[in-house]
Amino acid sequence: MQNSVEAVNNVIRNRRSIFPPSYIEKEIPNEIINDILENANYAPTHKLTEPWRFIVFKGESLKRLAGFFSERYRTVTPPESFSQARYDAAGEKVLKSNCVIIIAAELHPDKLPEWEETASVACAVQNMWLTATAYGIGSYWSSPAILTQLGEFAGIDSTQKCLGLFFMGYHDAPEAPARRTPIENKVTWA
Ligand SMILES: Cc1cc2nc3c(=O)[nH]c(=O)nc-3n(C[C@H](O)[C@H](O)[C@H](O)COP(=O)(O)O)c2cc1C
Repeated sequence: MQNSVEAVNNVIRNRRSIFPPSYIEKEIPNEIINDILENANYAPTHKLTEPWRFIVFKGESLKRLAGFFSERYRTVTPPESFSQARYDAAGEKVLKSNCVIIIAAELHPDKLPEWEETASVACAVQNMWLTATAYGIGSYWSSPAILTQLGEFAGIDSTQKCLGLFFMGYHDAPEAPARRTPIENKVTWA
């Protein structure tokens, strides 16, 4: 038991947000991606609604996702300010990743308030993040300002809410300590 506490402490405290510029060209096997998703499925869920939903982009489909971000740049940029370099850069983070997963919550307004479903999906994402860490895979949760448009692009229906993207890739980022203030500042014992 002591060993597993140590393992849990290690993976939680060593988990970091690792961003696409540090990703290297190395494929994440589908079995590992499935394992990461399997652990998402063990997140706590009030009334067992299991609200987490995921759309996986890997290989060719990453190009479509990158295209969405580039086209979005074109849509919001006046033609006279358009830059091909910026158009390409808009999709770069996606193309540097080996796998990107769109995160959504299936809402059940008759059963639960939205915040409980969002909290449950966040627990599922943390499970993914920790599992990726244990596999030596860099990852982070990205929450761009265009979640509604991203959801439309991904075909997310009206019973769901898009909550962002989970970027993944093997990486060469140096180990970095967590930047946190002490827990004592945030806890009151009554
Ligand atoms: C819900 C959520 C959304 C986030 N969205 C972004 C984002 O859009 N861009 C970003 O750079 N980091 C994002 N992050 C990652 C945080 O920036 C990161 O967790 C924080 O800097 C602490 O670093 P650490 O994860 O390495 O401990 C997000 C994290 C969470 C939990």
